[in-house]
Amino acid sequence: MEVMTLGEEVLRQKAQPVSEIDDGIRELVREMFVTMAEKDGVGLAAPQVGKSIRLFVAKADDDVERTFINPQIIATSQETCGYEEGCLSIPKSWENVTRPERVTVQALNERGRRFTLEADGLLARVIQHEYDHLEGILFIDRIDPAKKAKIEERFQKTAAKKEA
Ligand code: NI
Repeated sequence: MEVMTLGEEVLRQKAQPVSEIDDGIRELVREMFVTMAEKDGVGLAAPQVGKSIRLFVAKADDDVERTFINPQIIATSQETCGYEEGCLSIPKSWENVTRPERVTVQALNERGRRFTLEADGLLARVIQHEYDHLEGILFIDRIDPAKKAKIEERFQKTAAKKEA
């Protein structure tokens, strides 16, 4: 699947809830795991492949593959930590982002079963980053504005080159 990059409108839209978890959704989930693995990602949200729906997948290091449909973050820890984040939609940029250390998320899996997961470490990080994608938020929105402007400028140049 093609991964949308910074500047594409779909990355800035608030995604819509998934109304029915059918074979089409399961096929999308399978393709997203393939795309994520090909690109060495640890998470991928549906808007990144051009689908403005509330679904993301994650595989944080040695963890199992996890699918989150219509997720809700129901609790976050007071303790925060920093981590160098990147994004498949913003290639070649990594910046330190501060977020809560632990989160509790409720979602449906690809079989439509509701689950609650308490996550910490990299998985907590990925869940928050991917959840942001469903809200049209990118990690560069959470960094120093001057650094964000530089990254945006670089992508405008890339887009202009593509058009020329
Ligand atoms: Ni991302």
